[in-house]
Amino acid sequence: MAGRPLYLEPRLEPRLRSLVAATGMLHALTDALGSPLHVVVPEQIAENVERFRSVYRAHHLPGQVFYAHKANRSSALLRRLAATDAGVDVASLGELRHALGAGFTGDRITATGPKNPEFLWLAARAGVTVSVDGDAELDQLAALVRGHALGRVRVLLRLSGFEASGVRVLSRRSRFGTPVPEVKPLLDAVERHTDAVDLTGVAFHLDTTSVAEKATALEGSLAVLEACRSRGLRPRAVDVGGGFGISYLAEREQWDAYTSELTAAVLGRRPPLTWGGHGYGLRDDSGTLRGTLGLYPGHRSVAGAAYLDELLSQPAPSLGGRPLAALLLEHLYDLHTEPGRALLDQCGLTLARVLEVRIPPSGGELLVRLAAKADDIALEDHGVLMDPVLVPRGGGGPDDGPVAVHLFGSLCLETDLITRRTVFLPRRPAPGDLLVFANTAGYAMDFHATRAQHQPAARKIAAWQDGASWRWCLDDQFWPITPSGGVQ
Ligand SMILES: Cc1ncc(COP(=O)(O)O)c(C=O)c1O
Repeated sequence: MAGRPLYLEPRLEPRLRSLVAATGMLHALTDALGSPLHVVVPEQIAENVERFRSVYRAHHLPGQVFYAHKANRSSALLRRLAATDAGVDVASLGELRHALGAGFTGDRITATGPKNPEFLWLAARAGVTVSVDGDAELDQLAALVRGHALGRVRVLLRLSGFEASGVRVLSRRSRFGTPVPEVKPLLDAVERHTDAVDLTGVAFHLDTTSVAEKATALEGSLAVLEACRSRGLRPRAVDVGGGFGISYLAEREQWDAYTSELTAAVLGRRPPLTWGGHGYGLRDDSGTLRGTLGLYPGHRSVAGAAYLDELLSQPAPSLGGRPLAALLLEHLYDLHTEPGRALLDQCGLTLARVLEVRIPPSGGELLVRLAAKADDIALEDHGVLMDPVLVPRGGGGPDDGPVAVHLFGSLCLETDLITRRTVFLPRRPAPGDLLVFANTAGYAMDFHATRAQHQPAARKIAAWQDGASWRWCLDDQFWPITPSGGVQ
């Protein structure tokens, strides 16, 4: 193998580490249920909610943690969550039906995203809070409420286009929400529809990892809440959306080393690190590096609940420089959050069996074909680069040290690459071995999954610890009660 291996080892907390170590069970599961196979760990999502709750407590803030359902279709995770005090953020009619069927009552659900009339009607009917995108949606909702003699619906106004105090516009353009400078007609619409809707607050969701951008948005939201109050409206909450993130990798040094070597490879200063010279957004322009690295920051020093804590501790320059948490508390506002990815941290993994290991006649990296499609393990769709853990069948073959491999999927498509980069494994895999992709519950399991070429979509199971051993059932069979759920 040319050069030293550039590992990107996954961060494994004790529960997921224990599951990865249950190698006999992982092989037995894929033998029985096929490859690929998704495993979710419902107990972990309850623990993750508790981590968010502890940040609320530290800042003395009331409010709700709404799990962004879109990140995983699992019933087991949703039902386990229904047994906590968390809420759920649904973004489609199907997700709303799923949440109601998992045991969430309407007062624990918020509806976000683009909505069709059926979704709006069921949300209104079930007493769900609706995050409205603009005045047209508000008009539509009010007409539904009146036309069907429904009760007043709680609404949040989704905002976007926040401006920092000063001249620089910090928040990027969004196709969702009402830009703050255009909020007046929306507030007029709220006043027109007070018989049909109850304005409970404002909301935003920014697709960014930048704390500064989110702090600007939260500060801007507080200003809009003031504008509502000066009109005699009584909003009481601000919903800061999701985007708290995950730190996927165990070691910062590995991430730093990988990204600098990738840059060198793009500039032709070392052998390529990707299939077909892919640059993940970077390119060589006659010796000058151009473009931007389109990857998720694999190692993050602040993510999840700690990111919320950091956001709440940011000062609000236009409001006397006081921390955002103090301002929320002073106004007795509820703080709502909609974490998707962050609540799914350490909540699952995906197993894929090795079908073929080919040694190219010209030498170089091994070509490893898996019994899985790229859309079953969609880490790269989200820019996440992370090594799988190799679980040999039996004792595995002779261990002759690290190898560089390319991981291909099972479709007859040139583009069906499980990862575009060269992956370094600590030893050579063999057909029948398993590759365990850790931490795939957030968006990588089923958000993009297809049945292309009539290949089955991966099955999903729920697993939980029972003393020293692991137990499991099909995802849809899991309910948070004994004996199947393993909870209390
Ligand atoms: C409105 C809204 N809330 C929450 C989320 C969840 O974001 P994340 O999974 O990054 O926490 C999304 C993601 O698209 C969203 O659109």
